[in-house]
Amino acid sequence: MRQKIVAGNWKMHKNAEETEDLLNDLIDKLPSDAPVHIIVAPTFVNLASAVEHLEFTNINVAAQNMHQAEGGAFTGEISADMLKSVGVNTVILGHSERRAYFHENNSLLKSKVDTALKHELVVIFCFGEELKDRQSGNHFNLVENQLKDSLFHLQEKDWANIILAYEPVWAIGTGETASPEQAQEMHGFIRNTIDSKFGRNVSENVAILYGGSVKPDNAREIFSKPDVDGGLIGGAALKAEDFAAIVSAA
Ligand code: G3P
Repeated sequence: MRQKIVAGNWKMHKNAEETEDLLNDLIDKLPSDAPVHIIVAPTFVNLASAVEHLEFTNINVAAQNMHQAEGGAFTGEISADMLKSVGVNTVILGHSERRAYFHENNSLLKSKVDTALKHELVVIFCFGEELKDRQSGNHFNLVENQLKDSLFHLQEKDWANIILAYEPVWAIGTGETASPEQAQEMHGFIRNTIDSKFGRNVSENVAILYGGSVKPDNAREIFSKPDVDGGLIGGAALKAEDFAAIVSAA
């Protein structure tokens, strides 16, 4: 049975003081015995303090990105080793905003995944179609290619450190949440696609999160679907009471 996972992607929100305030609020509002794997992803500048702040809690910390190189002349970038050095063991890769605004393609993301796994980081790998893809009926093909291009070179053992996050771009930040049926349809397709390549031991154990306008009032129905193993939360992660409600719905 796969454990439910709820991760909050804070994106470019919360300075140092605001991060401490939200973490204190989350510690206060999140159940300490939730049967859910809880993750928060503050910005780079707040990762070390968040790890320290959450040390004795059931809340884990993830980075929102990392560079594929081990180090070097890459001004402004952060390496996997730097994340590990401050106690971060999970990293979000391939978010649609990285793909759109920073031109991250499937090939680059394959390199980022390889570097993250080499450093024993858990990868939350994001992917999903744009509205034009779904309107043209190309969404399954596009999602399949995102998975194959960036993940299908992996060995079976690598999948122990992979969490998948299906985020239809048209649902991110729009309030246009995918219906529970739409989410289940795609998650089932994703699981079958993984199964066809890697077999049941991988496909039945890999967590597939849904992301895209998950809110307290829709989380329970989406998370109840058999192939939805939790959520990757954006806006609602910035409000402790909303994020706690979503965790409770998982
Ligand atoms: O990574 C999660 C994020 O893209 C979803 O954002 O605001 O639609 O929950 P939001």
